[in-house]
Amino acid sequence: MILRKAQKSDVSSLYALERELFLPQNYTLSRGSFSYHVKNNLLYVAEIDGKIAGYILTLIKRKNAKLYSIGVDNLYRGRQIGKKFLETVSCELISLGFSRLLLEVRIDNETAIALYKKAGFKIIKKLDSFYLDGCDAYLMELKYADKTL
Ligand SMILES: CC(C)(COP(=O)(O)OP(=O)(O)OC[C@H]1O[C@@H](n2cnc3c(N)ncnc32)[C@H](O)[C@@H]1OP(=O)(O)O)[C@@H](O)C(=O)NCCC(=O)NCCS
Repeated sequence: MILRKAQKSDVSSLYALERELFLPQNYTLSRGSFSYHVKNNLLYVAEIDGKIAGYILTLIKRKNAKLYSIGVDNLYRGRQIGKKFLETVSCELISLGFSRLLLEVRIDNETAIALYKKAGFKIIKKLDSFYLDGCDAYLMELKYADKTL
């Protein structure tokens, strides 16, 4: 498995994976959004046998970092790819001087919440009706000052 920064040539595969992973009510990314994020934000992919097996997108705005999305193809789940994505992004954010990483997650997404909690994220707030289908979200935070990687 290779974990690397996404390139423009990955955009079609990323968009195809996105449509497999998420329903539109979860604010899915368009092809154009992926092209934008390759250039302007932290977008990593996991590549296995030449295929994009997953991605993680973190948005960077001034001194704030937000994990916008993470997804691993069903075929490759349970192999610690999600965990490695979070570690890689955290290392980069720490080296860039960020002190925390925020994210929103559907409160019914138990798998993702388990992944985030294991990585050290804490729930700091519930956001009512955050998603387009009315589902609430948890706002979660990973503080780098508290964590030794
Ligand atoms: C959430 C997701 C990215 C996890 O990716 P993954 O590569 O399978 O996760 P990992 O193998 O790195 O798991 C790391 C930890 O997360 C937790 N976890 C992962 N899958 C889990 C599951 N099905 N049930 C419970 N906990 C789980 C566990 O704590 C696990 O640690 P362990 O293996 O030591 O028990 C993946 O399930 C996915 O793509 N889901 C669909 C997209 C999504 O919902 N993304 C999040 C919202 S943006």
